[in-house]
Amino acid sequence: MAVLNIEPIHQDFGARITGIDMRAPISGEAVVEIKAAIDDYSFVLFPNQPFDDDRQMAFTKLLGEPEESHVALGETGTVTYFGTIGNVQQDGSKLGNDHRKTKFLTGNNMWHSDSSFRAVPARLSIMCAYEVPETGGATEFVSLRAAHGRLDEETQDRIDPLVAIHDYVFSRSKVAPDAVSPSLAASLPPVPQKLVRSNPATGAKNYYLGSHARTIQGWDDAPARALLDDLQDRATQPEHAYAHAWQPEDLVIWDNRCLLHRGAGYDADRNRRYMRQTRVKGDGPTMGE
Ligand SMILES: [Fe+2]
Repeated sequence: MAVLNIEPIHQDFGARITGIDMRAPISGEAVVEIKAAIDDYSFVLFPNQPFDDDRQMAFTKLLGEPEESHVALGETGTVTYFGTIGNVQQDGSKLGNDHRKTKFLTGNNMWHSDSSFRAVPARLSIMCAYEVPETGGATEFVSLRAAHGRLDEETQDRIDPLVAIHDYVFSRSKVAPDAVSPSLAASLPPVPQKLVRSNPATGAKNYYLGSHARTIQGWDDAPARALLDDLQDRATQPEHAYAHAWQPEDLVIWDNRCLLHRGAGYDADRNRRYMRQTRVKGDGPTMGE
């Protein structure tokens, strides 16, 4: 019997899910349904779920193995699991547009898949919204599964065996050239990722790229860049995007295997934004999928 009430929110992907109090113990049946909804819809929104970090971590563990924050790990070797998205710090203070951390986070305003620069990239991102700007601050999403489905068969066949190289230093140097410390850079060398992936539960195919994808293995940079840019442009046309306007108490999960997302930006001098993110690790390197 279905526990969840699921309403699609975009023609390509995404669902709004009600009928469950995520603060109560979540039944095994509900976890199975939530995982199936993620496989089918790629983006799921649970509105009006007042959360805190402890609840978020417990929920994250229901979905898989939490992923360590790459910045803390690379810079100081410490293991942390939460990322703060926004300009409000844990002590409640607010950073403005000119602060180094605010600028660094503008890297998220390029279309990307979280942690695609890691040997084992993130499968899921889980975000809880606490404070949101009055204007701006949306996150846009597009489906790379739908984009793959719109390619002609010849192009699908041509890209199927390709491998992209994802490179954190490459993508971050576009927004904050001096923000990647030598130890962080050394901890995140370029990694190969399959350009075309399949969902192991459903078999649905998608391509996999974003701002961290630098080149195609074995190709010259110019044709590789042209192919990656063309595939990304096709996926990210405005008519294919869903912009999520965050509300406090939104709990959102998205599937990094097959979605790209980007921040739409906001004025950090005039607004407060506080969201907490955890991630679930992928099952292994994409090359082994
Ligand atoms: Fe992100």
